[in-house]
Amino acid sequence: MEKSPVIVIVGAGRVAWHLGRRLKGKGLPVTQVISRTEERTEELATSVGAVWSTSLPEIIPNPDWVLLAVKDDALSEVAEKLGSYVPEALVTHTSGGTAGSVLSPFFRRSGVFYPLQSFSFEHTPVWSKIPFCVDASTPDDLLFLKKTAKRIGNLVYHVNDEQRARLHIAAVFANNFANHCFAVAEKILDEQDLPFEMLHPLMEETVAKALQESPARMQTGPAARGDVETMRKHIHLLDAYPDLQKMYKLISSNIFGNENW
Ligand SMILES: NC(=O)c1ccc[n+]([C@@H]2O[C@H](COP(=O)([O-])OP(=O)(O)OC[C@H]3O[C@@H](n4cnc5c(N)ncnc54)[C@H](OP(=O)(O)O)[C@@H]3O)[C@@H](O)[C@H]2O)c1
Repeated sequence: MEKSPVIVIVGAGRVAWHLGRRLKGKGLPVTQVISRTEERTEELATSVGAVWSTSLPEIIPNPDWVLLAVKDDALSEVAEKLGSYVPEALVTHTSGGTAGSVLSPFFRRSGVFYPLQSFSFEHTPVWSKIPFCVDASTPDDLLFLKKTAKRIGNLVYHVNDEQRARLHIAAVFANNFANHCFAVAEKILDEQDLPFEMLHPLMEETVAKALQESPARMQTGPAARGDVETMRKHIHLLDAYPDLQKMYKLISSNIFGNENW
């Protein structure tokens, strides 16, 4: 039987929380959790049966795999601090928007283990539907990450830095911007004392159609029809919200294919 790798997770946020528990559930127990804030670190470690620390130099000796699940902007700093303590380990990050090369100056074996999903503490991920984007500096490590991703998820893609950077932009449009538009819609209805639930069927239909067909072909609304008068009325109704006016104008022009209206 193959020996289980000794795994350390650095970070105790959303991704660390879900990945740690999933790894354990799939027979890949996490041995140690290291993160800055004591309470969260202890909570995650207890939940996966690992030891914990708030200090990087206290990392256990000779781990096989160190998963950095800290915020993007902290990756370089954490990698630099950790570098000398784990010279032989495979060290990966979980970021869609950060190049794998952020780790390579500090580790001989590095890679990326990016689950393409939005994680929050409140929702249990549906692992079988999450695409894992993996990359590594050596073929053996790439194979290990592919096998591990297959074990805890189902969909595995070898995605290089260039591709992942673009994929991440696409994900920001599909998830973050779409969700922001939902939040704007909620605010507009709220100000009219109308329940946001009124839009739920429309939102469901939008996503259902976009999953069935190319969303570009499914586009409806004033900008898609070229109903310029209606668009101008909307701009006027947004007079009190110059930021939303700009957003409306920019997105409508992009759909319409013309910004002079
Ligand atoms: N959430 C998602 O939907 C998602 C999806 C795919 C990939 N990712 C990627 O996964 C990584 C973690 O994201 P997350 O959503 O789990 O973030 P998160 O919930 O905000 O947690 C961030 C973690 O980073 C730690 N941290 C922040 N600044 C730090 C610093 N300067 N030094 C050391 N640790 C620091 C935090 O520690 P404290 O608690 O002490 O602040 C916390 O443990 C990111 O690279 C992100 O791009 C996120």
